[in-house]
Amino acid sequence: MQPRTLYIKTYGCQMNVYDSARMADVLAPLGYAQATTPEAADLVILNTCHIREKAAEKVYSELGRLRALKEARTSGGQEMMIAVAGCVAQAEGEEMARRAPVIDILVGPQSYHRLPELIATVRRAGGQALETEFPVESKFDHLPDSAAETGVTAFLTVQEGCDKFCTFCVVPYTRGAETSRPPEAVIDEAKRLVRSGVREITLLGQNVNAYHGEDAGGQVWSLGRLIRHLAEIDGLERLRYTTSHPRDMDDDLVSAHRDVPALMPFLHLPVQSGSTRVLDAMQRLYNREQYMERIGWMKAAKRDISITSDIIVGFPGETQAEFEETLSLLDECQFDAIFGFKYSPRPNTPAIHMEDAIPDVEKSRRLTFLQEKQREIQRRRNQNHIDQILEVMVEGKREDRSQWVGRSSQNKTVNFTGSGDCAAGSYTSVRITSIFPNSLVGELVI
Ligand code: SAH
Ligand code: SF4
Ligand code: F3S
Repeated sequence: MQPRTLYIKTYGCQMNVYDSARMADVLAPLGYAQATTPEAADLVILNTCHIREKAAEKVYSELGRLRALKEARTSGGQEMMIAVAGCVAQAEGEEMARRAPVIDILVGPQSYHRLPELIATVRRAGGQALETEFPVESKFDHLPDSAAETGVTAFLTVQEGCDKFCTFCVVPYTRGAETSRPPEAVIDEAKRLVRSGVREITLLGQNVNAYHGEDAGGQVWSLGRLIRHLAEIDGLERLRYTTSHPRDMDDDLVSAHRDVPALMPFLHLPVQSGSTRVLDAMQRLYNREQYMERIGWMKAAKRDISITSDIIVGFPGETQAEFEETLSLLDECQFDAIFGFKYSPRPNTPAIHMEDAIPDVEKSRRLTFLQEKQREIQRRRNQNHIDQILEVMVEGKREDRSQWVGRSSQNKTVNFTGSGDCAAGSYTSVRITSIFPNSLVGELVI
Protein backbone atom coordinates (compact mmCIF):
# COMPACT_ATOMS: atom_id res chain seq x y z
CA MET A 1 0.00 0.00 0.00
CA GLN A 2 1.32 3.40 -0.95
CA PRO A 3 1.86 5.68 2.06
CA ARG A 4 -0.10 8.92 1.68
CA THR A 5 -0.76 11.97 3.79
CA LEU A 6 -3.99 13.54 4.89
CA TYR A 7 -4.68 17.02 6.26
CA ILE A 8 -8.05 17.80 7.85
CA LYS A 9 -9.19 21.30 8.76
CA THR A 10 -12.18 21.37 11.07
CA TYR A 11 -14.69 24.21 11.38
CA GLY A 12 -17.81 24.47 13.56
CA CYS A 13 -18.97 22.46 16.51
CA GLN A 14 -17.56 19.60 18.56
CA MET A 15 -19.49 17.12 16.47
CA ASN A 16 -17.34 18.11 13.53
CA VAL A 17 -14.23 17.56 15.68
CA TYR A 18 -15.47 14.04 16.40
CA ASP A 19 -16.33 13.45 12.72
CA SER A 20 -12.87 14.58 11.59
CA ALA A 21 -11.27 11.99 13.85
CA ARG A 22 -13.58 9.29 12.47
CA MET A 23 -12.75 10.32 8.87
CA ALA A 24 -9.07 9.84 9.69
CA ASP A 25 -9.96 6.35 11.04
CA VAL A 26 -11.77 5.47 7.80
CA LEU A 27 -8.81 6.55 5.71
CA ALA A 28 -6.01 5.00 7.80
CA PRO A 29 -6.44 1.52 6.23
CA LEU A 30 -5.89 3.15 2.81
CA GLY A 31 -2.45 4.29 3.95
CA TYR A 32 -3.32 7.88 4.86
CA ALA A 33 -1.32 9.26 7.79
CA GLN A 34 -2.18 12.67 9.21
CA ALA A 35 -0.05 15.69 8.27
CA THR A 36 0.07 18.92 10.24
CA THR A 37 -0.02 21.28 7.23
CA PRO A 38 -1.82 21.12 3.87
CA GLU A 39 1.35 21.84 1.83
CA ALA A 40 2.54 18.24 1.69
CA ALA A 41 -0.84 16.50 1.79
CA ASP A 42 -2.13 14.08 -0.87
CA LEU A 43 -5.65 14.65 0.43
CA VAL A 44 -7.02 17.78 2.11
CA ILE A 45 -10.42 17.63 3.79
CA LEU A 46 -12.27 20.76 4.88
CA ASN A 47 -14.87 19.68 7.43
CA THR A 48 -17.22 22.62 7.23
CA CYS A 49 -19.89 24.46 9.23
CA HIS A 50 -22.95 26.22 7.85
CA ILE A 51 -24.41 27.66 11.04
CA ARG A 52 -23.70 31.33 10.29
CA GLU A 53 -22.87 33.17 7.10
CA LYS A 54 -19.26 33.87 8.11
CA ALA A 55 -18.60 30.18 8.72
CA ALA A 56 -19.45 29.29 5.10
CA GLU A 57 -17.47 32.25 3.68
CA LYS A 58 -14.33 31.02 5.42
CA VAL A 59 -14.54 27.80 3.44
CA TYR A 60 -14.53 29.61 0.11
CA SER A 61 -11.52 31.68 1.06
CA GLU A 62 -9.66 28.55 2.20
CA LEU A 63 -10.49 26.92 -1.15
CA GLY A 64 -8.88 29.88 -2.91
CA ARG A 65 -5.63 29.28 -0.99
CA LEU A 66 -5.76 25.55 -1.64
CA ARG A 67 -6.16 26.06 -5.38
CA ALA A 68 -2.68 27.59 -5.59
CA LEU A 69 -1.23 24.70 -3.55
CA LYS A 70 -2.94 22.13 -5.70
CA GLU A 71 -1.68 23.74 -8.91
CA ALA A 72 1.87 23.76 -7.56
CA ARG A 73 1.69 20.11 -6.53
CA THR A 74 0.03 18.76 -9.64
CA SER A 75 2.40 20.67 -11.94
CA GLY A 76 5.20 18.84 -10.10
CA GLY A 77 3.51 15.52 -10.97
CA GLN A 78 2.10 14.92 -7.47
CA GLU A 79 -1.50 14.29 -6.45
CA MET A 80 -3.57 16.58 -4.28
CA MET A 81 -7.24 15.79 -3.83
CA ILE A 82 -9.51 18.27 -2.14
CA ALA A 83 -12.61 17.10 -0.32
CA VAL A 84 -15.25 19.29 1.30
CA ALA A 85 -17.14 17.48 4.05
CA GLY A 86 -19.62 18.57 6.69
CA CYS A 87 -22.56 20.91 6.78
CA VAL A 88 -21.71 23.32 3.93
CA ALA A 89 -21.16 20.34 1.63
CA GLN A 90 -24.55 19.00 2.65
CA ALA A 91 -26.39 22.30 2.24
CA GLU A 92 -24.72 23.73 -0.85
CA GLY A 93 -22.95 20.76 -2.43
CA GLU A 94 -24.03 21.27 -6.02
CA GLU A 95 -23.51 25.01 -5.98
CA MET A 96 -20.07 24.55 -4.41
CA ALA A 97 -19.05 22.02 -7.02
CA ARG A 98 -19.91 24.56 -9.71
CA ARG A 99 -18.39 27.54 -7.96
CA ALA A 100 -15.17 25.79 -6.98
CA PRO A 101 -13.96 23.31 -9.61
CA VAL A 102 -10.86 22.77 -7.44
CA ILE A 103 -13.03 20.47 -5.28
CA ASP A 104 -12.74 16.76 -6.11
CA ILE A 105 -15.12 15.35 -3.52
CA LEU A 106 -18.14 16.66 -1.62
CA VAL A 107 -19.47 14.53 1.17
CA GLY A 108 -22.24 15.26 3.68
CA PRO A 109 -21.99 14.56 7.44
CA GLN A 110 -23.96 11.31 7.24
CA SER A 111 -21.90 9.80 4.42
CA TYR A 112 -18.22 10.05 5.32
CA HIS A 113 -17.94 6.27 5.72
CA ARG A 114 -18.15 6.31 1.91
CA LEU A 115 -14.99 8.39 1.47
CA PRO A 116 -12.79 5.46 0.32
CA GLU A 117 -15.28 4.73 -2.47
CA LEU A 118 -15.46 8.39 -3.51
CA ILE A 119 -11.66 8.68 -3.61
CA ALA A 120 -11.47 5.56 -5.79
CA THR A 121 -14.12 6.95 -8.16
CA VAL A 122 -12.27 10.23 -8.64
CA ARG A 123 -8.96 8.45 -9.16
CA ARG A 124 -10.51 6.12 -11.71
CA ALA A 125 -12.81 8.44 -13.59
CA GLY A 126 -11.67 11.99 -12.74
CA GLY A 127 -14.28 14.74 -12.33
CA GLN A 128 -16.08 15.55 -9.11
CA ALA A 129 -17.80 13.07 -6.78
CA LEU A 130 -20.77 14.29 -4.77
CA GLU A 131 -22.43 12.34 -1.95
CA THR A 132 -25.03 14.27 -0.03
CA GLU A 133 -27.95 11.90 0.20
CA PHE A 134 -28.97 10.85 3.69
CA PRO A 135 -28.11 7.16 3.31
CA VAL A 136 -30.43 4.51 4.73
CA GLU A 137 -27.52 2.80 6.45
CA SER A 138 -25.99 4.47 9.50
CA LYS A 139 -22.43 5.63 9.07
CA PHE A 140 -21.73 4.31 12.57
CA ASP A 141 -22.31 0.74 11.38
CA HIS A 142 -19.70 1.20 8.66
CA LEU A 143 -16.92 2.92 10.56
CA PRO A 144 -13.87 1.13 11.88
CA ASP A 145 -13.23 1.23 15.63
CA SER A 146 -11.77 4.55 16.66
CA ALA A 147 -7.98 4.65 16.73
CA ALA A 148 -6.23 4.98 20.11
CA GLU A 149 -6.73 8.47 21.50
CA THR A 150 -3.61 10.42 22.27
CA GLY A 151 -5.14 12.64 24.93
CA VAL A 152 -6.95 12.11 28.22
CA THR A 153 -10.19 13.75 27.10
CA ALA A 154 -12.36 12.62 24.20
CA PHE A 155 -15.65 13.32 22.46
CA LEU A 156 -18.16 10.58 21.76
CA THR A 157 -21.15 11.23 19.50
CA VAL A 158 -24.28 9.49 20.83
CA GLN A 159 -27.04 11.35 18.99
CA GLU A 160 -27.20 13.19 15.69
CA GLY A 161 -29.54 15.40 13.76
CA CYS A 162 -32.48 17.46 14.88
CA ASP A 163 -36.25 17.45 14.44
CA LYS A 164 -36.92 20.77 16.17
CA PHE A 165 -36.64 23.17 13.24
CA CYS A 166 -36.02 26.41 15.13
CA THR A 167 -36.80 29.10 12.57
CA PHE A 168 -33.19 30.44 12.40
CA CYS A 169 -31.26 27.18 12.20
CA VAL A 170 -29.79 25.07 9.39
CA VAL A 171 -28.93 21.98 11.43
CA PRO A 172 -32.09 19.94 10.64
CA TYR A 173 -31.28 20.44 6.94
CA THR A 174 -27.56 19.66 7.17
CA ARG A 175 -27.55 16.83 9.71
CA GLY A 176 -30.93 15.31 8.94
CA ALA A 177 -33.46 13.72 11.26
CA GLU A 178 -32.72 13.00 14.88
CA THR A 179 -31.21 9.55 15.50
CA SER A 180 -29.58 7.94 18.54
CA ARG A 181 -26.87 5.28 18.56
CA PRO A 182 -27.67 2.04 20.40
CA PRO A 183 -26.46 2.11 24.04
CA GLU A 184 -24.30 -1.01 23.53
CA ALA A 185 -22.33 0.72 20.73
CA VAL A 186 -21.80 3.80 22.89
CA ILE A 187 -20.68 1.77 25.91
CA ASP A 188 -18.24 -0.28 23.76
CA GLU A 189 -16.74 2.85 22.28
CA ALA A 190 -16.41 4.44 25.73
CA LYS A 191 -14.63 1.32 27.05
CA ARG A 192 -12.19 1.40 24.14
CA LEU A 193 -11.47 5.07 24.79
CA VAL A 194 -10.79 4.39 28.47
CA ARG A 195 -8.49 1.45 27.59
CA SER A 196 -6.48 3.83 25.40
CA GLY A 197 -5.98 6.25 28.31
CA VAL A 198 -9.00 8.57 28.19
CA ARG A 199 -10.24 9.70 31.63
CA GLU A 200 -12.88 12.22 30.64
CA ILE A 201 -15.57 11.77 27.97
CA THR A 202 -17.96 14.38 26.61
CA LEU A 203 -21.06 12.82 25.04
CA LEU A 204 -22.12 14.76 21.97
CA GLY A 205 -25.33 15.41 20.10
CA GLN A 206 -27.04 18.38 18.44
CA ASN A 207 -29.73 17.66 21.03
CA VAL A 208 -27.89 15.28 23.25
CA ASN A 209 -30.56 15.13 25.94
CA ALA A 210 -33.11 13.99 23.36
CA TYR A 211 -31.06 10.75 23.32
CA HIS A 212 -33.34 7.71 22.99
CA GLY A 213 -31.08 4.82 21.95
CA GLU A 214 -32.71 1.43 21.54
CA ASP A 215 -30.87 -1.58 22.97
CA ALA A 216 -30.77 -5.10 21.49
CA GLY A 217 -33.83 -6.05 23.57
CA GLY A 218 -35.88 -3.19 22.10
CA GLN A 219 -35.77 -1.04 25.25
CA VAL A 220 -35.30 2.68 24.80
CA TRP A 221 -32.68 4.34 27.00
CA SER A 222 -32.71 7.95 28.11
CA LEU A 223 -29.52 9.99 28.41
CA GLY A 224 -29.74 9.71 32.21
CA ARG A 225 -29.75 5.92 32.02
CA LEU A 226 -26.86 5.89 29.56
CA ILE A 227 -24.84 8.15 31.86
CA ARG A 228 -25.45 5.88 34.88
CA HIS A 229 -24.07 2.91 32.92
CA LEU A 230 -21.10 4.76 31.48
CA ALA A 231 -20.17 6.02 34.95
CA GLU A 232 -19.52 2.41 36.00
CA ILE A 233 -16.65 1.98 33.53
CA ASP A 234 -13.49 1.49 35.57
CA GLY A 235 -11.02 4.30 34.97
CA LEU A 236 -13.57 6.77 33.59
CA GLU A 237 -13.33 9.71 35.98
CA ARG A 238 -15.39 12.45 34.41
CA LEU A 239 -18.44 12.59 32.16
CA ARG A 240 -20.03 15.56 30.45
CA TYR A 241 -22.61 15.99 27.68
CA THR A 242 -23.47 18.73 25.25
CA THR A 243 -25.58 20.37 23.73
CA SER A 244 -28.86 20.09 25.57
CA HIS A 245 -32.21 21.52 24.59
CA PRO A 246 -34.32 23.03 27.42
CA ARG A 247 -37.41 21.20 26.20
CA ASP A 248 -35.71 17.79 26.62
CA MET A 249 -34.48 18.20 30.22
CA ASP A 250 -36.13 15.39 32.19
CA ASP A 251 -36.18 14.07 35.77
CA ASP A 252 -33.91 11.22 34.88
CA LEU A 253 -31.13 13.53 33.74
CA VAL A 254 -31.64 15.94 36.62
CA SER A 255 -31.42 13.08 39.12
CA ALA A 256 -28.30 11.70 37.39
CA HIS A 257 -26.69 15.04 38.29
CA ARG A 258 -27.64 14.41 41.91
CA ASP A 259 -26.60 10.74 42.08
CA VAL A 260 -23.66 10.14 39.72
CA PRO A 261 -20.38 11.54 41.08
CA ALA A 262 -18.60 11.13 37.71
CA LEU A 263 -21.17 13.39 36.05
CA MET A 264 -19.58 16.82 36.27
CA PRO A 265 -21.44 19.85 37.66
CA PHE A 266 -21.69 21.49 34.29
CA LEU A 267 -24.53 22.14 31.84
CA HIS A 268 -24.64 24.00 28.54
CA LEU A 269 -28.29 24.97 28.05
CA PRO A 270 -28.81 27.43 25.18
CA VAL A 271 -31.64 29.88 25.84
CA GLN A 272 -31.27 32.11 22.72
CA SER A 273 -33.47 34.91 24.10
CA GLY A 274 -35.01 36.13 27.35
CA SER A 275 -38.20 37.24 25.63
CA THR A 276 -41.10 34.80 25.34
CA ARG A 277 -42.34 36.64 22.24
CA VAL A 278 -38.98 36.14 20.51
CA LEU A 279 -38.67 32.52 21.73
CA ASP A 280 -42.03 31.88 20.17
CA ALA A 281 -40.99 33.45 16.85
CA MET A 282 -37.85 31.29 16.98
CA GLN A 283 -40.06 28.24 17.60
CA ARG A 284 -37.93 27.19 20.55
CA LEU A 285 -40.80 25.23 22.18
CA TYR A 286 -40.41 26.82 25.63
CA ASN A 287 -41.05 30.21 27.19
CA ARG A 288 -38.95 32.25 29.59
CA GLU A 289 -40.66 30.83 32.68
CA GLN A 290 -40.16 27.23 31.55
CA TYR A 291 -36.48 27.92 30.90
CA MET A 292 -36.09 29.44 34.38
CA GLU A 293 -37.88 26.44 35.87
CA ARG A 294 -35.27 24.12 34.34
CA ILE A 295 -32.43 26.26 35.65
CA GLY A 296 -34.07 25.92 39.07
CA TRP A 297 -34.18 22.10 38.79
CA MET A 298 -30.50 21.95 37.92
CA LYS A 299 -29.41 24.29 40.68
CA ALA A 300 -31.42 22.29 43.20
CA ALA A 301 -29.96 18.96 41.98
CA LYS A 302 -26.33 19.88 42.37
CA ARG A 303 -24.85 22.54 44.56
CA ASP A 304 -22.68 24.94 42.62
CA ILE A 305 -23.37 23.69 39.13
CA SER A 306 -21.88 25.75 36.34
CA ILE A 307 -24.40 26.64 33.63
CA THR A 308 -23.51 28.19 30.28
CA SER A 309 -25.71 29.28 27.39
CA ASP A 310 -26.00 30.53 23.80
CA ILE A 311 -27.74 33.77 22.93
CA ILE A 312 -28.77 35.28 19.61
CA VAL A 313 -29.19 39.07 19.42
CA GLY A 314 -31.01 40.92 16.67
CA PHE A 315 -33.46 38.19 15.63
CA PRO A 316 -35.93 39.77 13.13
CA GLY A 317 -38.30 42.07 14.98
CA GLU A 318 -36.41 41.96 18.33
CA THR A 319 -37.23 45.27 20.02
CA GLN A 320 -35.00 47.11 22.47
CA ALA A 321 -37.39 46.08 25.26
CA GLU A 322 -37.16 42.43 24.21
CA PHE A 323 -33.38 42.66 24.10
CA GLU A 324 -33.52 44.06 27.65
CA GLU A 325 -35.47 40.97 28.67
CA THR A 326 -32.44 38.93 27.57
CA LEU A 327 -30.22 41.17 29.72
CA SER A 328 -32.47 40.64 32.73
CA LEU A 329 -32.36 36.89 32.11
CA LEU A 330 -28.56 37.07 32.40
CA ASP A 331 -29.01 38.66 35.82
CA GLU A 332 -31.46 35.99 36.88
CA CYS A 333 -29.53 32.98 35.59
CA GLN A 334 -25.99 34.02 36.54
CA PHE A 335 -24.38 31.94 33.79
CA ASP A 336 -20.71 31.04 34.02
CA ALA A 337 -20.23 31.79 30.32
CA ILE A 338 -22.30 32.62 27.28
CA PHE A 339 -21.70 32.38 23.56
CA GLY A 340 -23.38 35.40 22.01
CA PHE A 341 -24.14 35.60 18.29
CA LYS A 342 -25.57 38.20 15.96
CA TYR A 343 -28.53 36.68 14.15
CA SER A 344 -27.38 35.53 10.72
CA PRO A 345 -30.03 34.88 8.04
CA ARG A 346 -29.59 31.36 6.66
CA PRO A 347 -30.84 29.92 3.38
CA ASN A 348 -33.99 27.75 3.50
CA THR A 349 -34.83 28.68 7.09
CA PRO A 350 -38.23 30.31 7.82
CA ALA A 351 -36.69 33.31 9.61
CA ILE A 352 -35.08 34.51 6.39
CA HIS A 353 -38.55 35.60 5.24
CA MET A 354 -39.43 37.43 8.45
CA GLU A 355 -39.80 41.18 8.37
CA ASP A 356 -38.09 43.84 10.48
CA ALA A 357 -34.53 42.77 9.94
CA ILE A 358 -32.26 44.50 12.47
CA PRO A 359 -29.39 46.52 10.91
CA ASP A 360 -25.95 45.04 11.45
CA VAL A 361 -24.69 48.04 13.47
CA GLU A 362 -27.57 47.57 15.89
CA LYS A 363 -26.88 43.85 16.20
CA SER A 364 -23.24 44.68 16.97
CA ARG A 365 -24.27 47.22 19.59
CA ARG A 366 -26.53 44.70 21.32
CA LEU A 367 -23.86 42.01 21.20
CA THR A 368 -21.23 44.26 22.74
CA PHE A 369 -23.64 45.33 25.46
CA LEU A 370 -24.57 41.70 26.18
CA GLN A 371 -20.96 40.59 26.39
CA GLU A 372 -19.93 43.46 28.66
CA LYS A 373 -22.74 42.66 31.04
CA GLN A 374 -21.85 38.98 31.08
CA ARG A 375 -18.16 39.75 31.67
CA GLU A 376 -19.09 41.48 34.90
CA ILE A 377 -21.29 38.57 35.97
CA GLN A 378 -18.44 36.15 35.32
CA ARG A 379 -15.96 38.29 37.19
CA ARG A 380 -18.29 38.33 40.21
CA ARG A 381 -19.01 34.61 39.99
CA ASN A 382 -15.37 33.69 39.67
CA GLN A 383 -14.64 35.76 42.83
CA ASN A 384 -16.43 33.00 44.76
CA HIS A 385 -13.61 30.62 43.81
CA ILE A 386 -10.93 32.68 45.60
CA ASP A 387 -9.33 30.50 48.32
CA GLN A 388 -11.33 27.44 47.26
CA ILE A 389 -9.41 24.21 46.70
CA LEU A 390 -10.57 22.72 43.40
CA GLU A 391 -9.92 19.33 41.87
CA VAL A 392 -8.23 19.98 38.55
CA MET A 393 -7.50 17.56 35.76
CA VAL A 394 -4.09 18.47 34.36
CA GLU A 395 -4.10 18.97 30.60
CA GLY A 396 -0.52 20.10 30.04
CA LYS A 397 2.20 22.59 30.85
CA ARG A 398 2.87 26.00 29.34
CA GLU A 399 6.67 25.95 29.38
CA ASP A 400 6.93 29.63 28.41
CA ARG A 401 5.08 30.65 31.57
CA SER A 402 6.15 27.68 33.75
CA GLN A 403 2.46 27.12 34.40
CA TRP A 404 0.32 24.03 34.27
CA VAL A 405 -3.08 24.24 32.72
CA GLY A 406 -6.08 22.13 33.62
CA ARG A 407 -9.83 22.10 34.04
CA SER A 408 -11.98 22.21 37.12
CA SER A 409 -15.00 19.94 37.48
CA GLN A 410 -17.09 22.91 36.30
CA ASN A 411 -15.02 22.98 33.09
CA LYS A 412 -13.25 26.22 33.99
CA THR A 413 -9.68 26.71 32.79
CA VAL A 414 -7.24 26.77 35.72
CA ASN A 415 -3.64 27.97 35.28
CA PHE A 416 -1.43 27.05 38.21
CA THR A 417 2.10 26.91 39.51
CA GLY A 418 3.77 24.85 42.21
CA SER A 419 6.94 23.06 43.20
CA GLY A 420 5.70 19.49 42.66
CA ASP A 421 5.28 17.71 39.36
CA CYS A 422 2.03 16.97 37.52
CA ALA A 423 1.43 14.55 34.67
CA ALA A 424 -1.12 15.26 31.95
CA GLY A 425 -4.27 13.34 32.79
CA SER A 426 -3.65 13.30 36.52
CA TYR A 427 -5.91 14.96 39.07
CA THR A 428 -4.55 17.45 41.49
CA SER A 429 -5.74 19.99 44.03
CA VAL A 430 -5.28 23.65 43.32
CA ARG A 431 -5.93 26.61 45.65
CA ILE A 432 -7.37 29.52 43.67
CA THR A 433 -5.51 32.77 44.26
CA SER A 434 -6.81 35.12 41.57
CA ILE A 435 -9.40 35.20 38.81
CA PHE A 436 -10.18 36.52 35.35
CA PRO A 437 -13.62 36.50 33.70
CA ASN A 438 -12.64 33.43 31.63
CA SER A 439 -10.10 31.59 33.78
CA LEU A 440 -8.82 30.94 37.27
CA VAL A 441 -5.26 31.14 38.61
CA GLY A 442 -3.93 29.10 41.49
CA GLU A 443 -1.22 27.16 43.28
CA LEU A 444 -0.73 23.46 43.59
CA VAL A 445 -1.68 22.14 47.02
CA ILE A 446 0.80 19.55 48.19
N1 SAH B 1 -28.96 22.44 19.28
C1 SAH B 1 -28.52 23.55 20.00
C2 SAH B 1 -27.74 24.57 19.20
C3 SAH B 1 -26.95 24.20 18.02
S1 SAH B 1 -26.33 25.51 17.02
C4 SAH B 1 -29.73 24.22 20.63
O1 SAH B 1 -30.82 24.05 20.18
O2 SAH B 1 -29.58 24.98 21.52
C5 SAH B 1 -25.27 26.40 18.13
C6 SAH B 1 -25.68 27.83 18.35
O3 SAH B 1 -25.50 28.61 17.20
C7 SAH B 1 -27.13 28.02 18.72
O4 SAH B 1 -27.37 27.77 20.07
C8 SAH B 1 -27.40 29.46 18.33
O5 SAH B 1 -27.18 30.32 19.41
C9 SAH B 1 -26.37 29.72 17.24
N2 SAH B 1 -27.03 29.86 15.93
C10 SAH B 1 -27.67 28.90 15.23
N3 SAH B 1 -28.19 29.42 14.09
C11 SAH B 1 -27.88 30.74 14.10
C12 SAH B 1 -28.15 31.82 13.20
N4 SAH B 1 -28.84 31.65 12.10
N5 SAH B 1 -27.66 33.05 13.52
C13 SAH B 1 -26.95 33.24 14.67
N6 SAH B 1 -26.68 32.26 15.53
C14 SAH B 1 -27.13 31.02 15.27
FE1 SF4 C 1 -30.90 24.09 15.52
FE2 SF4 C 1 -32.99 24.37 17.09
FE3 SF4 C 1 -32.19 21.94 16.37
FE4 SF4 C 1 -30.73 23.38 18.07
S1 SF4 C 1 -32.82 22.60 18.43
S2 SF4 C 1 -29.99 22.23 16.32
S3 SF4 C 1 -31.01 25.45 17.31
S4 SF4 C 1 -33.03 23.50 15.03
FE1 F3S D 1 -21.90 23.86 12.16
FE2 F3S D 1 -22.95 21.64 11.30
FE3 F3S D 1 -22.05 21.81 13.77
S1 F3S D 1 -23.65 23.66 10.82
S2 F3S D 1 -22.40 23.93 14.26
S3 F3S D 1 -20.84 21.94 11.95
S4 F3S D 1 -23.84 20.69 13.10
